Amino acid sequence: MEEVLINPKAGFYINRDVFGAEGDFITSPEVSQMFGEMVGVWVMCLWEQMGQPDRINLVELGPGRGTLMADLLRGASKFEKFTKSLNVHMVEVSPALKKIQKITLKCNNEDSADTNLDESIATTLNGTPVSWHSTLDEVPTGLPTIIIAHEFFDALPVHQFQKASRGWCEKMIDVAEDSKFRVVLSPQPTPATLYLLKRCKWANTEDLTKLKHVEVCPKAMDLTQTIAKRISSDGGGALIIDYGLDGIVSDSLQAIRKHKFVDMLDDPGSADLSAYVDFPAIRHSAEEVSEDVCVYGPITQSRFLGNLGINFRVEALLQNCTEEQAESLRTGYWRLVGDGEVPFWEGPDEQTPIGMGSRYLAMAIVNKKQGPPVPFQ
Ligand SMILES: C[S@@+](CC[C@H](N)C(=O)[O-])C[C@H]1O[C@@H](n2cnc3c(N)ncnc32)[C@H](O)[C@@H]1O
Repeated sequence: MEEVLINPKAGFYINRDVFGAEGDFITSPEVSQMFGEMVGVWVMCLWEQMGQPDRINLVELGPGRGTLMADLLRGASKFEKFTKSLNVHMVEVSPALKKIQKITLKCNNEDSADTNLDESIATTLNGTPVSWHSTLDEVPTGLPTIIIAHEFFDALPVHQFQKASRGWCEKMIDVAEDSKFRVVLSPQPTPATLYLLKRCKWANTEDLTKLKHVEVCPKAMDLTQTIAKRISSDGGGALIIDYGLDGIVSDSLQAIRKHKFVDMLDDPGSADLSAYVDFPAIRHSAEEVSEDVCVYGPITQSRFLGNLGINFRVEALLQNCTEEQAESLRTGYWRLVGDGEVPFWEGPDEQTPIGMGSRYLAMAIVNKKQGPPVPFQ
């Protein structure tokens, strides 16, 4: 899964823009500016709870086109003390997306997109310094830190296990005689079974006995521990929003190309692979590594956005716009908080009912010093 997504030569994310109607799928920040603005409200409230520090690191993991961060910075531009405190760090592996992010954040000087991305560049949106990194470990420590991960954890590679008569075996990818990929079951338990056992330790036995398939994401557990350690030493918090479950994940790995589900073994690298996020595994991983952090949620995206005031924001924006803009604001609003029956990725068609409001969940990991973050109290 990792090779398919981020292989430096042929990975799905590496060479192109995969978002929006022309791409393969659409995400909340691309649906409406209100998403980034509401995340901005969350970040600002946490910054207040942290005692309005003069300098903080604001980190985004997997920023896609950079739209969320641009909307956050634009939305917060009137709050000068807050925006002046920010050092923005974008954690992105894809060179193509880094270039797009730089343009979205207006960090492109005249000679634009080819400028060295390792140095921090002030965005002309409000002067905030922005720098790019390939991993969270590269982001400098020592400042209070707020981390945003929107649809990042779902891109991390999972292991899948199936209960066979010989015990839990791992699903593996094999090459068949006709040179096509196929899924096979390991003849015996594999080393990754250790992660399965760890995950099962946190599950209740009744749930486990019912399951024939279990999906585990060791990278999500490791990343959560890196996040929790950083928050416990530097202060601050993290916001994770993704589609997932508040329980063990059974069999969710999926491939999407041009807004349609496809076979994940068909032409790897040409379709997005993603899996449901196992939120309890995130909670336990954070709690296991530090006593100084508290985990809140998950709550649904509609509750998260609703309690942060998206209704007031949409009303305010509707006061001052054209009829066309009003239509797009209303559609965007319902896409973000609505509860449609049809999965949102089935089409870019504006009429498609979508259900991002309950399908997506929000979780926060914060340093205990700050107390419960809004709107998780
Ligand atoms: C599903 S997209 C989400 C993009 C964006 N957050 C949004 O909501 O529009 C996943 C993002 O994570 C990046 N990414 C995926 N795997 C990564 C990894 N292992 N390290 C760093 N970035 C990664 C991708 O390039 C992409 O920017």
